Formats: sequence, structure tokens, C-alpha cells
Amino acid sequence: MNQEAKPKQGLSKISSLRGMHDLLPEAMRRHKLIEKTAEETASLYGFEAMGTPILEPLDVFARTLGETSDVVSKEMYSFSDKSGEMVTLRPENTASVVRAFANNGLAMHVPIKFFYAGPMFRYERPQKGRLRQFHQFGIELIGPASPQADIEVIACGAMILDRLGIDQGISLHLNSLGNTISRHHYRTALMTYFQDHFDDLSQDSKDRLTRNPLRILDSKAEGDQVLIANAPKFADYLDQESSDFFAIVQQGLSALNIPFTLNQALVRGLDYYCHTAFEFVSTNLGAQGAVLGGGRYDGLAEFMGFPAIPAVGFAAGIERLAMLIAEPPSVLRPIFIIPMGDSAQIPALLLADQLRKSGLKSEMGYSGNLTKRLKQASKQNARYALILGEDEIAAGAVQLRDLDQSSQALIPLNQLPAHLKSLNNR
Ligand code: HAM
Repeated sequence: MNQEAKPKQGLSKISSLRGMHDLLPEAMRRHKLIEKTAEETASLYGFEAMGTPILEPLDVFARTLGETSDVVSKEMYSFSDKSGEMVTLRPENTASVVRAFANNGLAMHVPIKFFYAGPMFRYERPQKGRLRQFHQFGIELIGPASPQADIEVIACGAMILDRLGIDQGISLHLNSLGNTISRHHYRTALMTYFQDHFDDLSQDSKDRLTRNPLRILDSKAEGDQVLIANAPKFADYLDQESSDFFAIVQQGLSALNIPFTLNQALVRGLDYYCHTAFEFVSTNLGAQGAVLGGGRYDGLAEFMGFPAIPAVGFAAGIERLAMLIAEPPSVLRPIFIIPMGDSAQIPALLLADQLRKSGLKSEMGYSGNLTKRLKQASKQNARYALILGEDEIAAGAVQLRDLDQSSQALIPLNQLPAHLKSLNNR
């Protein structure tokens, strides 16, 4: 260790921020498998990959998610940048996708079908399945106003879970938040009801009452629960158009054999939803059971000052899915190359290069005696080692050792790639 790299006495150790985790290869393999499965499935539905910046102007979220939502009122990573502009690390991606849709003049090209994956940031209290930096895979279908779009989006979510093998202890919760008129009537009814019980409400819910009484339904405060249970039900305030829309969604899901549970308490944590709201919830994750959630958000573009455009989508929490999937298939076992003596170093480099170019994963055992390097090969999960010394070089061959079987054979170099490919390397 040189002088500069020595740890300074008395300095506290640096660790990652609370609720923000490193993704080591084991976790990363799960994430990649989930992303790949989700991407392939979304592609079957005609969705295409896109990306948005992780840092956005504050207003992208402040104007759309609802000032009384937990995300906006408590959880956003917002700060002013060096130019004094208020910016936010995205807490979700739907608002960003709609901004991108409007900024890039895509209204002429609807329907637009996008999928994305990446990190999101919410300053929440970390616990199992709840992080401050987490990852989502999501799809957004922008343009169609018809309930068939909602059915397709939910079906895509169901197929992703199915293909990931997550079929135990998972249920789809479904609710309708109706159109604007229905929501207005329901809001008025809730306001009257909660006003009558004002003194019994939690402080958070009191604050939310005049601004958005629907948010009270999302309250986790114990004292609010009884009031919420007896509150007016949305279903009684849906007008004909909203009920018809919801009925078509339910019929479609039934026709596709996707079971669902109607859940009147499902209002979702973000304010931009209308009509369909849904969540796939797992019973195997404790309190943070929602693995994939979404719904229709026809009003979102207007909240940002863009022309109105209907849309529907969902996002899934990759960390939560990662806890539910089976162990991903193990990575390919490497071919382990062992050059013995200085004269073998360059031939070994060339050999590794040749094998990699022909698609074979190869590792190099740089130094140490043969026993030590064979141990290293086993540690790296290699099944085959190639031993290359002066004699082998002279013979234009290598010793191929099967570490699982403890057998060895001399193989001519010109036959090596084909020979290795013919072997079982599991
Ligand atoms: P969301 O329900 O807030 O919706 O998040 C979607 C999913 O992200 C959740 O179901 C959960 O699996 C995961 N998630 C959320 N917060 C955390 C966290 N702190 N730690 C770990 N996982 C978390 C949205 O974000 C909407 N943009 C979904 C949407 C797309 N609606 C329409 N289109």
C-alpha cells in the first residue's frame, strides 16, 4: 500500500446511504433476469424500450403526483442545482414518460407503447422490500382511451409474473377511481363524511381533508381505520360511463382467465389516476406486498400543462420481484487456462483470446504452483483446465484436465475449440 492509500487515523468509515444498496453479482443476476423476462414479455405486446433522465425539473413530479401524496409531501429527493433550478431525482417514471412524450412531439404517433427499467428514489423509512433507491420495470401505453388498453396492460403484467414463475400467493386487486365527474361527487361525499368525524382523524388526515380527502383512504394511522371502513364507497358514486368502463375491464380480465379481487380501498399512492387502478400483491413479502401496480392516468399530461392525452400503465418493483423468483440459472462455467513457466505466458494469452473469440468463457490462472492454480480453477467453478507448459507448446497441444472427473488428455491446439464445444460444461 503506498503512503496516500493508507487509511487516515480517526476518520469515520464511508458506507452507502441508508436504503441504497450495492447490487453484487448474485443480486444483479436476479435483476437482469427480471428485466429480460419483462422486456421480452412487453415486446410481445408491442412495447419498445425507452429511457428518461434520472434527474428532472421538480415540477414534473410536484404538479402531477399530488401535493398531498406521501411521495410529494415527504419523500422526494429535491434540491437546487448549481444554477438555482429546483431538480428532483425521479421517484417514479410515469410523469417523466409523459413529459418526454409531449416534449418530443409524439402526439402525432399515438398509440405510443414504451417500456423502461431503472432506479427510482424515495426518501421512505427503509424496511424489507422498501428502499430509498429501488428499481422499477414499467410500461406506458399512451393514446388509447378504451378499456381494452387497460385489459392489455394488466394482462401484460400478469404474463410477466407468470413467466417469472411467481404464481403462488399473488393476487390482483382492482378498483375504479371513475371519471372526473364521479370523482368530484365522491370527493364531496367523503369531505362531508370526514368533516363529521374531524376530531377523530389523525393529524395527517386532517391536513389532507380539504386538499384531497381521497388520500385519507390511503392512511395507515390506526385511529383512521375504523372511519375509513365506514366511509362512503366509490362504487356508489361511479356514473354510468365509469361503471360501463369498469365492467368492460372486468369482463376482459375474466375472459383472459386473470383472476382479480375488487378492492374499494385501493386508491393508489399517487394522485394522477382515474378509472382503472390495480395492484398485484404478494402474501410472501410482509407489509410491502405490492409488486406491480398501475392504472389509467388520462389527466396527467394536463397537470403538466400539455394537451390532454389518455394513457394507462404500470410499474413493478424489481427488488420485490427478486425476493420471489427462483434462483436464476448459474453463470457459464469458465475454461481455466494455466500457463506453466515464462515461455507459456504469451501462448496462453493467445489461447485465451482464441477461445473467447470462438465464444468460450475463459479465465487465466496467472501465478502459483500447479496445485494452487488448480484449486483456484475449482474455486472459480471451472470444470476444465488447460495446462500449457514447454512440452505442450513443443507438441502444439495442451493438457485438458477434467476437474470434476480428475482425468486428463493431450489435445492438439488446432482441435481445441471444437473439442471444448463438444464437451458437457455444466
Ligand atoms: P407505485 O405503486 O408507486 O407506482 O410503484 C410501483 C411499484 O414499485 C410498487 O408496486 C413496488 O413494487 C415498487 N416500489 C415502490 N416504492 C418502493 C420502494 N420504496 N422500495 C422498493 N420498491 C418500491 C408507480 O410508481 C407508478 N409510476 C406506476 C404506474 C405506471 N402507473 C401508471 N403507469
